[in-house]
Amino acid sequence: MPYNKNLSPKQLSLFTSLALALLAALTALIIRFHVLVFVASFVFVFTAAYLLISYAIKTYTNRQIKILYKLISRTKAGKKEVYYYRNILPEKNLDEVTQDVEAWAEQRKVEIEILKQNEVFRKEFLQNLSHELKTPIFSIQGYVETLIGGAINNPEVNVKFLERTSANIQRLVNLVDDLDEISKLETGELQLNPKLFVIQDLVKEVFELLADKMTEKGIVATIKKGCEQSITVLADKEKIRQVLINLVDNGIKYGKQNGTIEASFYKTPSKTVLTEITDNGIGIADEHSSRIFERFYRTDTARSRKIGGSGLGLAICKHIIEAHQQTIDVRSTPDVGSTFGFSLKAE
Ligand SMILES: Nc1ncnc2c1ncn2[C@@H]1O[C@H](COP(=O)(O)OP(=O)(O)OP(=O)(O)O)[C@@H](O)[C@H]1O
Ligand SMILES: [Mg+2]
Repeated sequence: MPYNKNLSPKQLSLFTSLALALLAALTALIIRFHVLVFVASFVFVFTAAYLLISYAIKTYTNRQIKILYKLISRTKAGKKEVYYYRNILPEKNLDEVTQDVEAWAEQRKVEIEILKQNEVFRKEFLQNLSHELKTPIFSIQGYVETLIGGAINNPEVNVKFLERTSANIQRLVNLVDDLDEISKLETGELQLNPKLFVIQDLVKEVFELLADKMTEKGIVATIKKGCEQSITVLADKEKIRQVLINLVDNGIKYGKQNGTIEASFYKTPSKTVLTEITDNGIGIADEHSSRIFERFYRTDTARSRKIGGSGLGLAICKHIIEAHQQTIDVRSTPDVGSTFGFSLKAE
């Protein structure tokens, strides 16, 4: 048994009763000098004292422990708890109680950590959001004030300023739409509508949709050789279209002039289909790749080059793919390129 400077209730009762019994027996011995008197009073006082003291200690500690458990669980005793307090709790020894309290404290610590983290997230979110709102609002304010101040009558700039105002308003609308989408996905409000479709066809449609943007940058998008054979997946087609639009759009925005985007498809043994979108663009450094799926997260390159949107695209992609109970991830090397891959259920 390990050395413990706190005596157990049993030991405490034992030692106190022994001391009392010895004292009583010695007193008896002084009054009546006889071995039998000594032994008899010792045995009697010891037994009585031991029973009384251990009962008193047990009752007292049980009451204290009960208060402790009530504090820990912070509930009003229901039927189950009453049974627990009456029958199971008295059987617990102090070591078990200590273990329970330690486990409780540990759990609290974890909960507090999560709360602290959420608090950091909340602060970051508000900070990012106000930053994202400020930029277009300040430009709109600037253009409108300049127009009111007289530029409205200057045919050289008036239309240009109005167009820029309109572009900034569009940016705000996109931001609000994205936020709306994220909050719907997070509250689980958005219902998936899964159906069967050929993933290559959808990718081709997305390439088509973004063709102008690609031409502007001289980017050529293709389906990888050997991946042309149609693969049918079961997923919410419109939501997956949204994922693909963001991935291909990122491939263009963060791609090099005259670069390439390539889509590839693989069936896995676990009856899923892996879709990958690969570009040969600026790539992502290791320290960023684990964070780019967070809301508003953008790499320094994206920020400093002032390309890209609000940084909500990948957060939305992740939500959509996770709502399908699938995964999305990235492999990337700076200046070489990036591959974003996500899985979907095969037909
Ligand atoms: N293909 C890529 N190559 C290099 N960096 C990328 C690529 N895709 C994403 N990133 C980085 O990850 C960040 C987050 O991407 P995400 O799609 O969430 O935001 P965004 O494209 O900047 O804005 P949004 O999609 O909201 O318009 C980007 O800002 C960029 O820094
Ligand atoms: Mg994006």
